[in-house]
Amino acid sequence: MKKIIDVKLTARKINFSDCKTDVLVVGIFSDAKKLDTLNAQLNKKLGGAIERLIKLGDFKGNDKTSAIVYGNDKIGAKRILLVGLGEKEKATLDTIRRAVANAAKKSVEIKAKSVGLALHNAFGKRFDLSAAGHACGEGAYFGSFIYDEFVTESKDGRLGSLKVELIEPDSEKLRQLKKGLAVGAVIGGAQSYARALANRPGNVIYPAKLAAAAKEMVRGSKGLSCTVFDKKQLTAKGMNGVLAVGSGSQHEPRLIVLKYSPAGKAANKLPVIGLVGKAITFDSGGLSIKPAANMDEMKLDKTGGISVLGTMKAISELGLPVRVYGIIPSAENLPSGSSYRPGDIINTFSGKTVEIQNTDAEGRIILCDALAYAHKQKCDIIIDIATLTGACMVALGKYMAGLMGNDEQLIKQLQKASEDSGEKVWPMPSGEEYAEEMKSKIADLKNIGSRWGGACTAAAFLRQFIGDAKWAHLDIAGVDLIQNASESSSVGSSGFGVRLLTTYLINLVDGKK
Ligand code: BES
Ligand code: MN
Ligand code: ZN
Repeated sequence: MKKIIDVKLTARKINFSDCKTDVLVVGIFSDAKKLDTLNAQLNKKLGGAIERLIKLGDFKGNDKTSAIVYGNDKIGAKRILLVGLGEKEKATLDTIRRAVANAAKKSVEIKAKSVGLALHNAFGKRFDLSAAGHACGEGAYFGSFIYDEFVTESKDGRLGSLKVELIEPDSEKLRQLKKGLAVGAVIGGAQSYARALANRPGNVIYPAKLAAAAKEMVRGSKGLSCTVFDKKQLTAKGMNGVLAVGSGSQHEPRLIVLKYSPAGKAANKLPVIGLVGKAITFDSGGLSIKPAANMDEMKLDKTGGISVLGTMKAISELGLPVRVYGIIPSAENLPSGSSYRPGDIINTFSGKTVEIQNTDAEGRIILCDALAYAHKQKCDIIIDIATLTGACMVALGKYMAGLMGNDEQLIKQLQKASEDSGEKVWPMPSGEEYAEEMKSKIADLKNIGSRWGGACTAAAFLRQFIGDAKWAHLDIAGVDLIQNASESSSVGSSGFGVRLLTTYLINLVDGKK
């Protein structure tokens, strides 16, 4: 099987025009009146080639666009890639992240072996250089990612690795850029790891395989341990929600529990965090079976769990001084003679009984056991992440994840992490009225509400299982899948959540330094 593209990130002190590279990447704003100092300097060396391109109207600096100008041996680089940054006032760190992703994707397409990034230069003092370096690291991974491990055609094959260098002639600036780049590289690498794993289909990844992947990730890592509960152990523990959902498949369910304890002391008075991720390796709907169209996309129903896995990888590589549990319930939801049925009443791990009215509302059934387990492990803060409801996609489209919770401060912190990471979230309710809909006449709860507000009733259901912990819920249905390739991304899993959750944890630690 082909490996995903290996990104090699470094930083180098050198003059922009001297840098020997296949592609030198610079940025241009759409509303700039004239070329900035760096672009003017390159333009001069190239005999006015950049200016001519712009005057002809072939490149306007618009967001999502790019153009190539050849170096013709007049500068170190073989090519200059001009990347549009849109309007200057509107630029954010995500502008840098997406512009670098755009450049990385182009570079892979033209089979460039080396890329020099000078994009940060366009922003002058606007952003902290460490934050800019961080965004560059994440963007380089994101844009160069292609999922092709099962494509055997070798003709015209892509390169195995992409060498990306941050270019900066000033030592102090370079030092700051490097600092952020190192963090961005870890998070970007973890996100690509998550995307590759999430893209694997149901016949390749099922609960036991996901558990094996988690164990493999933990091997050789710092501060991580991984315990896996199989069917027998789940039965002994009374994790009947996970067991019920997994009962229709030959592939038995698992509960994967990762624990991160930092090498040194955890930072002062930091809460213990529980990250809980839904990992349905394939969701057919079970006996309440889904329509055939696009059912294949339900291989991505494990994305929440895999985001948690990626986040645990990132925080361990960063050595973050905070204690974190990663709790991943995993099952395959299939119809068969041994499936759980509509009408069944499940005695869940928490002790609460749940009447099943639709076997396709299975995410909440595995999550309720995992949430109750997180609470039992004494997590002060529990954040769950799940491709939970089509209703969330109806409400928010494919741009943002739904964010529910019971604690204002936690919600605000996640919104801040969202701004910093570029993974967008939008607040939604999950209180009393919604919880009311989830009451059953013959059990404590039922697993579906009315026709309306499905994302909110699902969250209201989960809310019953976290005890007195502070809790937030991310419904990532819709943002888990990139349906169409864009200038900055290939199709398939987005790996949504790795950047958001890791950034949340970094900010938490930074706030307590
Ligand atoms: N995994 C799905 C939700 C989903 C739908 C994720 C589309 C990504 C894209 C979930 O298990 C599900 O089937 N939810 C049902 C709930 C309903 C039966 C109350 C849904 O959304 O239809
Ligand atoms: Mn389902
Ligand atoms: Zn599902």
